[in-house]
Amino acid sequence: MTATQAPGKSVGAPISRVEGHLKVRGAATYAYEHRLDEPAYLHPLQSTIANGRVAKIDASRAEAEPGVVAVLTHENAPKLEAVGDAELEILQNGEVGFRGQFIGAVIADTFEAARYAAGLVEIEYEERETDADFRPDRDDLYTPEQLNAGFEPDTSVGDVDGALASAAVKFDATYTTPREHNNPMEPHSSIAVWDEGELTLYESTQGVYWTQNTIAPLFGLDAEKVHVISPHVGGGFGSKGLPHANVVLAALAAMLVEGRPVKFALTRHMMFSVAGYRTPTIQRIRLGADAEGKLSAICNDVVEQTSKIKEFAEQTGTSARMMYDSSNIQTTHLLAALDVAVPSWLRAPGEAPGMFALESAMDEMAIECDLDPVEFRIMNEPEKDLESGLPFSSRGLVACLREGAERFGWDGRNPTPRSERDGRWLVGTGVASSVYPVFSMGGNAATIRADSDGKYVVEIGAADIGTGTWTTLGQIAADELGVSFEDVEMKIGDTKFPNASGAGGSSGITSWGSTLVEAARSLREKIEAEHGGNIPDEGVEASAKMPKNPHRKEYAMYAFGAHFVEARVDEDTGEVRVPRMTSVFAAGRIINAKTARSQFMGGMVMGLSAALHEESVLDTRFGHVVNHDFAEYHIPTNADVGELDISWIEEDDPYVNPMGSKGIGEIGIVGSAAAVANAVYHATGTRVRELPITPDKLIS
Ligand code: MOS
Repeated sequence: MTATQAPGKSVGAPISRVEGHLKVRGAATYAYEHRLDEPAYLHPLQSTIANGRVAKIDASRAEAEPGVVAVLTHENAPKLEAVGDAELEILQNGEVGFRGQFIGAVIADTFEAARYAAGLVEIEYEERETDADFRPDRDDLYTPEQLNAGFEPDTSVGDVDGALASAAVKFDATYTTPREHNNPMEPHSSIAVWDEGELTLYESTQGVYWTQNTIAPLFGLDAEKVHVISPHVGGGFGSKGLPHANVVLAALAAMLVEGRPVKFALTRHMMFSVAGYRTPTIQRIRLGADAEGKLSAICNDVVEQTSKIKEFAEQTGTSARMMYDSSNIQTTHLLAALDVAVPSWLRAPGEAPGMFALESAMDEMAIECDLDPVEFRIMNEPEKDLESGLPFSSRGLVACLREGAERFGWDGRNPTPRSERDGRWLVGTGVASSVYPVFSMGGNAATIRADSDGKYVVEIGAADIGTGTWTTLGQIAADELGVSFEDVEMKIGDTKFPNASGAGGSSGITSWGSTLVEAARSLREKIEAEHGGNIPDEGVEASAKMPKNPHRKEYAMYAFGAHFVEARVDEDTGEVRVPRMTSVFAAGRIINAKTARSQFMGGMVMGLSAALHEESVLDTRFGHVVNHDFAEYHIPTNADVGELDISWIEEDDPYVNPMGSKGIGEIGIVGSAAAVANAVYHATGTRVRELPITPDKLIS
């Protein structure tokens, strides 16, 4: 929709993304495409061992190659400040902590020369034994101090063991999810330029200020000496949430060639070792219920993996703490620290693998209790958040389940597995719930300027990683200013605009939008108080910081959803097709019906992908992901995705933020893999508890 929006009526409308025409014409400037004079090109040297040190590095042949400007190694690398982050403090001592770690770089006049010369650098290692075996029976598993996003690792309410012992229906099974790599279409890319002690980074990042605040201390700089420019980003899924070592490498290289811009884009191969990934998980789920199917015990004991050089502890078990009603709930997390690359955020870290296990187990338990899986979930709906004891600001799970069941045609489903067949295809249906917290990030500020011609310019260092931020923030500002959408110009993606948090944890609109509402109110007040309600010829400007939300102490805030899936399984080959998915979300007020639909769709497809395709295969002998490209790391193509029926319920939540919106970037992926697995079980009678559901797991 491009028609003019009436003043105050932009939020909710399906407005096309304002930068869309730039993107389809190839005119949107992505990080690597910024035109700078005489750029040099970087090709990295990556460790071929997983544990040890570089004993000798001989760059003489590389340095003699035409076009080579410099070779960067730990022997000549500029010193970085010790910030306690071994992922980022590269080239300081020749130590190697995982295979693929950066141990140097060739900088040359052309990409080709850099790449060729990199192959001429001779490297000898002192190798130590590689320990990359992820198993739950290791004797060195440990409990981390805290989980990602600050969650407690272990929680216990009531008496799980007692409740399980006395439960009329008991369930105990272990689920596994594999290592997964983020793989946004645009690889991680940087152009680094030093000028008089200040660093400019043209970056592909989910947060220009998160990048600034991470990179500046490494180089001993005040934050404002690092400028980050990132107007357009081709996806991130968490892998561009915080900068990885590629950014540091580009900045170090640019120091060696002072004044000359250095360009560095990861190849797809490199993205499998240095850009983060989702830990594999092993989750033991135990449930207890009374004879009617009321849950009395919920337990998720998680084992996951981190890197020896830097800890990342995914919050896999947290949704089990608040999803369903029970007086007895326990979650634990154990980590195996291995000689592997550093795991990080991947769309819905925690909820995505955690809800695969919990929602698969809920399906299995419904069957044990002889209940319909929709009704089983509804009868175990909690009245409050059992972890915090707070009421929910709004909780639309039941509405999503009912609405989804209606849209999908769930009623009258024959619960017996293998009860429907279409030629060679076994046909089944499955359901699963979804949840995602309403996160809010600190440190946001915005400036809005009104000009006498009735146009407004809104500045905030927010990010659009493909989600629609350029558009949705304009809608929020327009409505709060009481003007039409076309009169608002957004400026985002640059540290020259006011401080902003990053696009992570589905928190962007809550954080940035609340800030814009505050800034718009300040501007209106200023125009009223100081200019008698009229914008003066010279214009008027107001700034504001994000206000604290007092309701955060009063309510537990989550978005919910329900997925319904039809799966067809070829009885002979085990091939799984998913001809249709129906998903209904309760995510507060939807800011833009068009970009929101895309967000939900992307999440659902990513859940389908997790269910059937994605798995990074680690060769434990070498700590190496062997299927490190799109030929062998499978994701769905258009032909793999059937009909997607996407909708949401109207939800009025006055507590989450001034817009009444909840984040929508991650809720789509949560639970969707379980819905597929549950449908596959219904089709075949085979319960696959290990993702992905590849054909070999369905033919015996
Ligand atoms: Mo998202 S994984 O919080 O960028």
